[in-house]
Amino acid sequence: MAFSSSSPSSKVSINFICFVLLMFFLIGNSSAQLSENFYAKKCPNVFNVVKSIVHSVVANEPRMGGSLLRLFFHDCFVNGCDGSVLLDDTSSMKGEKTAPPNKDSLRGFEVIDAIKSKVEAACPGVVSCADIVAITARDSVVNLGGPYWKVKLGRRDSKTASFNDASNGAIPPPFSTLANLINRFKAQGLSTKDMVALSGAHTIGKARCVVYRDHIYNDTDIDSLFAKSRQRNCPRKSGSIKDNNVAFLDYKTPNHFDNVYYNNLINKKGLLHSDQVLFNGGSTDLLVKTYSNNPKAFESDFVTAIIKMGNIKPLTGSKGEIRKQCRRAN
Ligand code: HEM
Ligand SMILES: *[C@@H]1O[C@H](CO)[C@@H](O)[C@H](O)[C@H]1NC(C)=O
Repeated sequence: MAFSSSSPSSKVSINFICFVLLMFFLIGNSSAQLSENFYAKKCPNVFNVVKSIVHSVVANEPRMGGSLLRLFFHDCFVNGCDGSVLLDDTSSMKGEKTAPPNKDSLRGFEVIDAIKSKVEAACPGVVSCADIVAITARDSVVNLGGPYWKVKLGRRDSKTASFNDASNGAIPPPFSTLANLINRFKAQGLSTKDMVALSGAHTIGKARCVVYRDHIYNDTDIDSLFAKSRQRNCPRKSGSIKDNNVAFLDYKTPNHFDNVYYNNLINKKGLLHSDQVLFNGGSTDLLVKTYSNNPKAFESDFVTAIIKMGNIKPLTGSKGEIRKQCRRAN
């Protein structure tokens, strides 16, 4: 009996340690969890502010809805949804704005600034820029006729941004193979299905000649009349101002958040190489067909996927800060 496994007192202390560990786990876990009612008491007004500004900018320029949705994607894919994409460069920090996926391309920063300043006036120091980007993305989709979802909130803002982390391929380039798209989303915890559904965001907005030139001149998985018509506004030769000429990502219903993007792919009328690879004889063909035939399936999978995307590595609890201005750390 002298070597029995546990005396009454060591049992108590083991129970106590288990209890403490459990509490740590629960607290640690709950602070890392976003919630829909995070601002219900602290700043219920945030929703009206975002809604009304998004409504007016999208009414003025529908493309802005796409630009604002894309900001959320580019924020979340580089070190999580932490508002890092919004930070301007400083003398000691080269941020994400000039990284190849973003330079001369990302838009909508002034809209986020306008929203932030109104939100600060209503509830100073409460709502993060990262959460503003998330709500703005939802309202942009809704304004262009897409699905509504309840946005999970409670993200805090990063104090830094990284040019390198935004340049290393975490955001996949438009020249990507299907395998690369799948891998890049997988690296963020997103499935192939999430990737195909989120690509449906290309039902709105525009892209520049530089990113689709190779596809319309060199690829064979493109309708030849469609390629010809895009070539008129995007010359083969690079290096002129025409590199910045834009075309709609969804040539049919560019200002409507619908499932027509997938129908375009089936007709070999995707604008980007990375769009058309989703329907090119590979593993995602069937999903593209499903979404093109079934708008409800697309909407429901898009919503599931964008909520998942919004959960990528948020800063919560005492991590990060609530920025006063979205372009710089406090
Ligand atoms: C699957 C991988 C993706 C690739 C390779 C990709 C690539 C691109 C490229 C190259 C552009 C045009 C940029 C320019 O010419 O300046 C673009 C535009 C856009 N992307 Fe993506 N994208 C992807 C996924 C997504 C996701 C997940 C979303 C949002 C959920 C999204 C939303 C948009 C929107 C709305 C635009 C139009 C922006 C505007 O008009 O300002 N994209 N994308
Ligand atoms: C197409 O492919 C050729 C041959 O590989 C290459 O020289 C050219 O730069 C590519 N792009 C365009 C737009 O022609």
